[in-house]
Amino acid sequence: MNPNGLPGHAERIQIRTASKSDAEAITEIQSAAICEAYRDVWSVDKLASILGDARTRADCWREHLGTWGTLVAEVNGDIAGFVDFEACEDDVSPETVGEVVVLCVRPDWWGMGIGEAILRDAMARLRDSGWVEVVIWVVLENRRAVAFCKRLGFRMDESVRNFDTDGTPARRVRLRRLLEESRFRFRACRN
Ligand SMILES: CC(C)(COP(=O)(O)OP(=O)(O)OC[C@H]1O[C@@H](n2cnc3c(N)ncnc32)[C@H](O)[C@@H]1OP(=O)(O)O)[C@@H](O)C(=O)NCCC(=O)NCCS
Repeated sequence: MNPNGLPGHAERIQIRTASKSDAEAITEIQSAAICEAYRDVWSVDKLASILGDARTRADCWREHLGTWGTLVAEVNGDIAGFVDFEACEDDVSPETVGEVVVLCVRPDWWGMGIGEAILRDAMARLRDSGWVEVVIWVVLENRRAVAFCKRLGFRMDESVRNFDTDGTPARRVRLRRLLEESRFRFRACRN
C-alpha cells in the first residue's frame, strides 16, 4: 500500500485538470483503450467507424478542454489515463446527479490502479461541488469495465440503451453510486 492508500503503482500517479495541450494524448489513449476493450466484440472496421477521424476528435477535445470536468493521470510525467465528467443529462436531476462520460486508461497501464485513482478523484471533485450521486453508462459486453465499476461501488439501475453496430446488437447499461465521504478517499496531488 502506498501513501495514496492504493495498491501497486499508484504512488507515482499525479492527477491534474486537463488543458488544451493534452488533446492529442487524450485522443490517442481513447483510441487505444476502446480498441483493446472491444477487440473481441467489434471488428476493426467497426471500431474505426466508431472512433472516427482522430484529428477531428482531437479538435473536439481541444475545444472542450480547459473547463472543469476533465482530469488526466500522469505516471512519471506521461499521461496514462483521463476521465471526463459533467452534470448528468439523463432523466435525473442535473443539480444532484453527475455523470462520468468517458474514462480511459492506456492499455499497457491497465490493472495498476490508475482507473481507480482517477475515478475516485473525479468522484471527490463532483462531491465537493455539491453533487450527491454519479452515473456511468457502460457497454454491457465490456465485462471488465462493468466489473471495475461494480468493484468501486456502482450498481446497475434499470436503465438500458440498446444500439446496433452494423448488425451487432449491444446494450449500454447505467450504473450509479452515491458520493458519500469515502474512507478510501484518494489523496493524490491536485492542482
Ligand atoms: C475500465 C478501465 C478504465 C480500468 O482502468 P485500470 O487502470 O485498468 O483500472 P484499475 O487498475 O484501477 O483496476 C482494474 C483492475 O486491476 C486490478 N488492479 C489494480 N491495481 C492492481 C495491481 N497493483 N496489481 C494487480 N491488479 C491490480 C483491480 O483489482 C482491477 O481488477 P478487475 O478489473 O479485474 O476487478 C480500463 O480498463 C479502460 O480504459 N477500459 C477501456 C475504456 C472503458 O471501458 N471505459 C469504461 C468506463 S468504466
